[in-house]
Amino acid sequence: MKILITYSSKTGNTEKIAQAIHKSIPTADLLPISEIVDLNYDLIFIGGWIDRANFDQTALTLAQQIFDKDVAYFFTLGAYPHSEHAKECIHNIETLLNNNNNNIIGGYFCQGAIDPKLISWFSTLPSDHRMAPNDERKQRWEDAKSHPDHLDLSRATQFGLDIISKYR
Ligand SMILES: Cc1cc2nc3c(=O)[nH]c(=O)nc-3n(C[C@H](O)[C@H](O)[C@H](O)COP(=O)(O)O)c2cc1C
Repeated sequence: MKILITYSSKTGNTEKIAQAIHKSIPTADLLPISEIVDLNYDLIFIGGWIDRANFDQTALTLAQQIFDKDVAYFFTLGAYPHSEHAKECIHNIETLLNNNNNNIIGGYFCQGAIDPKLISWFSTLPSDHRMAPNDERKQRWEDAKSHPDHLDLSRATQFGLDIISKYR
C-alpha cells in the first residue's frame, strides 16, 4: 500500500503535524506539496494551514487535483479548535474533497501559532477596522503561540494510527 503525507506550511506548524503523522506511518512518503512527483498513491494525507476559513492556496490547488482517492486531511489554524470558525474550515475542506468523489477516512486539526509578521500588520490597523486587535483577539493570538504543543503532536501521531487501522 502506497501512502503519501503531503503538506503546505508557511511558518512550520503544519509541517510539524505532518512529521508527527509520519512517525506512526514511517513507510509513507513525506513531502511538501511543492515536491510531489505524482499522485499515484492508495491513500493521501493532505495538510495545509488555514487562510480565510479554507486550505491555503497551495493545499487548495492540490485538493482540487485529487479525484477518486482515499484521503485524510489535516490542518492548523489560528482560531480555537472548538470555535465555529474551525467547524466552517472542516466543512469547506470536506466539501472540497467530496466534490471530487474522494473517500474521506478522517481529519485532524489543531491551533497553530500565528506568524508574528501578521500580528504586527494587524497592529497597524485603525481601531475601527474589523480585523483590528481587541482583547479577545490578543488573547487568542497569545493562546495560539504555544501550538502545536506536545499534546497536539501526540494526537497527530495517534490520528495516523487511527487512519491506518480504519483503512486496513
Ligand atoms: C495570511 C494568513 C491568513 C490566515 N487566515 C486564517 C484564518 O482565516 N483563520 C484562522 O483560524 N487562521 C488563519 N491564519 C493562521 C494560520 O492558519 C495558522 O497560524 C497556521 O498554524 C499557520 O500554519 P503554518 O505554520 O504551517 O504556516 C492565517 C495566517 C496567515 C499568515
